[in-house]
Amino acid sequence: MNALAPSILSADFAALGEAVKLVEHAGAPYIHVDVMDGHFVPNITIGAPVAAALRKHINGIMDVHLMIENPDAYLEDFKAAGADILTVHYESTKHIHRTLQAIRKLGMKSGLALNPGTPVEVLECLIDEVDMVLIMSVNPGFGGQSFIPYALEKVKQVKALGERTGRDLLIQVDGGVGLQNVQEVVNAGANVIVAGSAVFGAQDVSATVQEFMKLMNE
Ligand code: DX5
Ligand code: ZN
Repeated sequence: MNALAPSILSADFAALGEAVKLVEHAGAPYIHVDVMDGHFVPNITIGAPVAAALRKHINGIMDVHLMIENPDAYLEDFKAAGADILTVHYESTKHIHRTLQAIRKLGMKSGLALNPGTPVEVLECLIDEVDMVLIMSVNPGFGGQSFIPYALEKVKQVKALGERTGRDLLIQVDGGVGLQNVQEVVNAGANVIVAGSAVFGAQDVSATVQEFMKLMNE
């Protein structure tokens, strides 16, 4: 089943527990937590203490997306916070292979995110260390941006790479996905869809989650 990962970046930060409960109750299997440091990306959001507090409200998968420099220094903190999947950016560290190994060694699924300007070819040498590939369909840092169409091509390439190497990959797409384009993204090969503003900016959050899940699994 293809899964929705609502991004709490667009939720009310003063009521995150409620936000998580609402989308989980509506059927979202993942909760996407965006961690930004003001260095790797221009914005600052939340860190491991907030993720740890949130964990108590999450019954499903806590999917943490690190948009930070020097991610290696924080892997243990996010393990302790209860992350199930920990995603790091290819562009954020010099020794990405070692970082991915370290994530798995700590007992989490490893995610590797590629910025819009990073080609899929970089995965060739890393694929065996990766449980989830995250194709960024916006430049990271903010919610509510427009989907970059070329991301669809990259998703197709990742899918082909997974098939060629016999890997059962999670393929996540993050940024600018809404009800109007989610099917296109799934048809390209994505199986985990992040949506922030399209979920938490909706009039009826619960109905929107249900609609996403329906469209993604038709
Ligand atoms: C962007 C974040 C996203 C963001 C997506 O840098 O990684 O997860 O919340 O927001 P939308 O779905 O509004 O583009
Ligand atoms: Zn994200």
